Amino acid sequence: MSLRVENLSVTFARDNGAPLAVLDRVSFEVQPGEFVALVGQSGCGKTTILRCLSGLQPSYEGTMTIAGRRLTGVDRRVAMVFQSDSLFPWRTVQANVAFGLEVRRRGKAGADRIVQDLVNLVGLAGFERAYPHQLSGGMRQRVNLARALAVDPDVLLMDEPFSALDMLTREAMQLELLRIWSHRRKTVLFVTHQIEEAVLLADRVLLMSPRPGRIRRDVPVPLGRPRASQVRRTREFHALVDALAEALAAAPLDGLVRS
Ligand SMILES: Nc1ncnc2c1ncn2[C@@H]1O[C@H](COP(=O)(O)OP(=O)(O)O)[C@@H](O)[C@H]1O
Ligand SMILES: [Mg+2]
Repeated sequence: MSLRVENLSVTFARDNGAPLAVLDRVSFEVQPGEFVALVGQSGCGKTTILRCLSGLQPSYEGTMTIAGRRLTGVDRRVAMVFQSDSLFPWRTVQANVAFGLEVRRRGKAGADRIVQDLVNLVGLAGFERAYPHQLSGGMRQRVNLARALAVDPDVLLMDEPFSALDMLTREAMQLELLRIWSHRRKTVLFVTHQIEEAVLLADRVLLMSPRPGRIRRDVPVPLGRPRASQVRRTREFHALVDALAEALAAAPLDGLVRS
């Protein structure tokens, strides 16, 4: 389902009451089944965009739609995978993945099937009864991903989901995500501040300017799929990463067209 964000603006109040413009008329579109990465410096408003989309941000201006229908709050068409651990520590893997289905009152038999399929898909068969503290960081993010997919959302939002992982686990999880995504072709908006990660994963990279965040560049990633680890060592990959790094480091107003 195509996701559309139009003129999204968010202003917070600073401690002294003065307004802090965090997002300034952010507009972009993500096509059905497309994987788009949103890249920008820390503090530029990436998480705020995802909070708006997932109904967690009470005040904003602008409109957000999926397949033409507006998002006006928490919406079952959207699911989010957070940066750090958001699993329930007192629930097993199985029960964590089942959470959204319980909330949506799926029948038990149907729910069990969905949960088992997802546990298998994310590579956790055999760990159904484990608790989060018994899992590695990478495994916990697999559970988070399965939990988000369980409710069969139209749009999957991911907020730096691998940033707390060590480098090797992170690289393995990036490829795992691509494998899983190839099975469940969701529309994905993936936030990261790592350009390599964005290029490896996405069909398109949206570069944001520093606060107040705007979309500065919309850059297609013409690498073929499926993508394997070796793509990171190609000249094409490095050329793209370099070009994006340069664009990101450029003057804040570079390329910005004020409307
Ligand atoms: N609830 C809030 N109240 C005040 N300021 C906030 C709030 N949430 C975020 N901010 C500020 O908004 C800016 C953007 O935050 P965020 O969206 O988390 O950025 P990013 O995810 O790109 O690092 C930051 O300067 C942050 O301090
Ligand atoms: Mg953030």
